[in-house]
Amino acid sequence: MLKVKFKNTGDTAEVEEGTELKDATKEKGWPIAYGCEDGVCGTCIIKTTAGAENLSPKGDKEKNTLSVMGMDDDEHRLACQCKVKGDCEIEGT
Ligand code: FES
Repeated sequence: MLKVKFKNTGDTAEVEEGTELKDATKEKGWPIAYGCEDGVCGTCIIKTTAGAENLSPKGDKEKNTLSVMGMDDDEHRLACQCKVKGDCEIEGT
């Protein structure tokens, strides 16, 4: 099992590889807001504080939305667009 830590609370979710980050955060009840759940609205933006390389790569839609928000960098992701590939730590914004 892979570990996803939520920095805001110190809570950790244990998930199978390929689990959608959105599903893990919802199951744990972490306070990350979702809107479109399709990579467009930007509501679910999070910051990766460790293991950013262990989330699935950004697709064009996610890159475009983050770019419009001025946050297309190595840390920020849209939680609704990420699959977990390894241990990581995220922070709600
Ligand atoms: S919920 Fe809209 S971009 Fe993730």
